[in-house]
Amino acid sequence: MDQEIVNTLGELERKLAELQRTIATMERLEPAGANDAAANETPPPAAAGRLIDESLPSDAAVRARRATPAADALAGMSASRAPASSAPPMRVPASGAPVTSSAPAAGADSADLLRFRDRLERTARELTNDYNELLGRLSRPAASASAPPAPSISFARGAPSLDIIDVAGLRDAAVRALESDPGGATAYGTSVGYPRLRSWIADRHGVEPERVLVTNGSMQADAFLFEHLVHAGEDVVVERPTYDRTLLSLRERGARVHAVELREDGIDTTALARLLRSGRVLPRLAHIIPNFQNPAGYTLSLAKREELLALAAEYQFIVFEDDPYVALRFRGESLPTMLSMDPDRVVYASSFSKTVCPGVRVGYLVGPVALIEAIAALARDTYISPSMISQAVVYEFCASGAIERSIETVRDALRERAETLSSALRRELPEAQFTPPDGGYFMWVTLPPGTDVGALAHAAGELGVAFVKGTDFVLEGGENTLRLAFAGVTPKQIDDGVTRLAAAYRSIT
Ligand SMILES: Cc1ncc(COP(=O)(O)O)c(C=O)c1O
Repeated sequence: MDQEIVNTLGELERKLAELQRTIATMERLEPAGANDAAANETPPPAAAGRLIDESLPSDAAVRARRATPAADALAGMSASRAPASSAPPMRVPASGAPVTSSAPAAGADSADLLRFRDRLERTARELTNDYNELLGRLSRPAASASAPPAPSISFARGAPSLDIIDVAGLRDAAVRALESDPGGATAYGTSVGYPRLRSWIADRHGVEPERVLVTNGSMQADAFLFEHLVHAGEDVVVERPTYDRTLLSLRERGARVHAVELREDGIDTTALARLLRSGRVLPRLAHIIPNFQNPAGYTLSLAKREELLALAAEYQFIVFEDDPYVALRFRGESLPTMLSMDPDRVVYASSFSKTVCPGVRVGYLVGPVALIEAIAALARDTYISPSMISQAVVYEFCASGAIERSIETVRDALRERAETLSSALRRELPEAQFTPPDGGYFMWVTLPPGTDVGALAHAAGELGVAFVKGTDFVLEGGENTLRLAFAGVTPKQIDDGVTRLAAAYRSIT
């Protein structure tokens, strides 16, 4: 072990001893300050105090210990410090580091105790952070153990970073939701969703509210739709690659999943037409992510939207338009939804996860009334109703116009992050092939044939970088591909992360 780790261990040990002592002191104080029934107990025998006397630190050691933030956190109650002779027995840490009392004395008032408890909690937090940092340091390769630990960078998560979430706007929306509709926001509500949000979504899509069902995230909407429409042994078409959770969900249902190659302008409609004409496949539905696809970042062209709908009409299947990224275009012209092009053949899903925040868990389906009614019954049997309070907050957020500002913030950040990612890849990893997206959260990267993305993920992990392997988004193949999500990382983290990713790549090739 190097000296730095030994020092950290010693420091941890000192803080732990301090914490143990403080807890012991608090336990002793509780009867006097907090529990009247026990207040008349006889004081601890003098012999117990002797033990603490024997562990009293030297002045020099006290000064050394006082230099730590944890010690500072616990200090400051000297006026009410318990006399050493009345403190309980304690353990002397193995390091020989001394401990002192900074707890409130017996008889301290409740404000003292509360302040003391705060300090105690702070010390516990510091201890936990130090411990986690030490664990992280020990798990890194020996060569880098002496360098300061680099924070980990995740290109794996399809979620916005906290700095682009309108937390204040959400807080205000929550206050308004509870003030303006306390009954509706706190009730079970109805399985079709919070009525005001349902209407707001219907307006956005130019449809009747009866065609809308608001769910706990669009993942739930997908699950209901699959449960209602897709049975074991039925054919379903997906893009290759596609959202890994969709693949998982369809396979768990026993569907026969047919993956049709995704091009930069969307699903290969010529290959799909060939598959359909072969007569081997009669799909119940085709799952399509039309805008800034997850995982590839590609967008389905208008011509292909038309071709796809024509094929759906000819072969009588439903197009499931899974569209959580539609609002996040940062370049180029928006395209019409397939829902607006053929409302009877398309079931549409979207979400507030990517534009507001995933924690609200609000998504929705738009489809033919009969289908929405059937799924509403399924929803009722599953959870009575989705979260009314979340949906009421999202409604207030939308109705106030905060949603437009939030979309603007997220879009601007995504534009900058996508550009930073492209430049960093060109600079650090020229072997990487990719098409910069026009919106959304993701970039698909292809490395030279023969690259083992599993080994790359492992090597990158050692350097503190995470991404999702391309193999997770396909039924087979994809060993030289990966998905980089850029919504949850700042430009600085993107630069650092790509530098480390390139180093990981060099280490395995
Ligand atoms: C294509 C697609 N559909 C659905 C979802 C699920 O979103 P939600 O958070 O609304 O459940 C995601 C999330 O990443 C996604 O990328």
